[in-house]
Amino acid sequence: MFFNTNYKDKKILITGVTGFKGSYLAFILQKLGAEIVGFGLKPSTNPSLFEILDLQKRIEVIYGDIREKQNIQNIINTHKPEVIFHLASQSLVIESYKNPSYTFETNINGTINLLEAIKEANCVKSLVVITSDKCYKIKKQNHKYKENDCLGGLEPYSASKSAVEIIVDSYRHSFFNINDYQKSHNTLLATARSVNVFGGGDWASNRLIPDCIKCLVEKKTIPIRHPDSKRPYLFVLDSLFGYIWLGYLLLNKNKEFAKCWNFGSYDNKSIKVKQIVKNIISFWGEGEYSTVKSEVYETQTLKIDSKKAFKRLKWKPMYSYKEGLQQTINWYKKFYENKNDIYNFTEIQLKEYIKKASKFKFIKKIIEN
Ligand SMILES: NC(=O)c1ccc[n+]([C@@H]2O[C@H](COP(=O)([O-])OP(=O)(O)OC[C@H]3O[C@@H](n4cnc5c(N)ncnc54)[C@H](O)[C@@H]3O)[C@@H](O)[C@H]2O)c1
Repeated sequence: MFFNTNYKDKKILITGVTGFKGSYLAFILQKLGAEIVGFGLKPSTNPSLFEILDLQKRIEVIYGDIREKQNIQNIINTHKPEVIFHLASQSLVIESYKNPSYTFETNINGTINLLEAIKEANCVKSLVVITSDKCYKIKKQNHKYKENDCLGGLEPYSASKSAVEIIVDSYRHSFFNINDYQKSHNTLLATARSVNVFGGGDWASNRLIPDCIKCLVEKKTIPIRHPDSKRPYLFVLDSLFGYIWLGYLLLNKNKEFAKCWNFGSYDNKSIKVKQIVKNIISFWGEGEYSTVKSEVYETQTLKIDSKKAFKRLKWKPMYSYKEGLQQTINWYKKFYENKNDIYNFTEIQLKEYIKKASKFKFIKKIIEN
């Protein structure tokens, strides 16, 4: 779709390619002309964005479990990727309560397996590890978490993400130190701490927007568990172009960017869950909600400060909360109206995004060569 981009013919590995963000990332990088190998478990949702975008036919995909080191080692040794985006993860908070050991093994051991395989192979130039804004130790309400705030985690998912941050930092210090870059190693590592993202095509359970869509499609009342919890949201393409830009900077030997980065929302605003549900119903055109009790702990308010990414990376989200939500609901409406047209519609949304972002350096640098 785009010619002569700076990702053209670059060898990329995406772990977690069968998930929501991984599918979008593969879709975008394929349009940018990259040579992609994807890794992950078979899609776990039905419908699945991975299948809808026909990615099993468009890119090379290897199914496997990241808890087995051999799996990831074989892929790296065979395909020799220059850039890796690591998204494979047990990514749901509620699931992490049900199965903490699986969450820790996948998120922590999986990342260690990947780092070890990279260390042994010596072909990877750029690694972007996706963690979460939930990696911070919770402080008082309204605290805006910066990259140098303490890490923590009161439930297994958050704890696993903060552990990944610490582990990557230790590898960056011990084996991929920027002072030894291009002497004893050629790899730059960064982590991306993103807020929740929305966009069309997510059908994961126990996530606010997919749960709402399922109810709306089945004409059921939407149950809201934490109506007054506040969440920042980022449109999926905004988040992914942040990762793609970071991957590009590391690939191009900008060692000052080999660190951790917050990727937060457009205006740093957090929106009440109840308000988000009301907006979804209004964009959808009909629907109802009711509040229900929940025993499960969830952080009431989360705010991260993304000034470092705005200033240093010169990355910037293109869509406000309402614009991003509108794009998201438009996607689902299109899907339920005419599934055959959804590939083209996803491409149209991508083109619109790139057009909107085209005056900004991070997009110019990715697209133009
Ligand atoms: N979606 C969000 O709002 C959000 C917000 C912040 C951070 N994140 C992080 O971004 C990344 C991607 O999120 P997502 O929404 O696409 O998640 P997802 O659940 O849709 O996809 C997870 C991917 O990881 C793979 N995976 C899970 N366990 C695996 C295992 N044992 N071995 C190999 N692969 C395995 C799955 O097959 C899938 O491809 C995750 O690290 C997640 O924690 C997501």
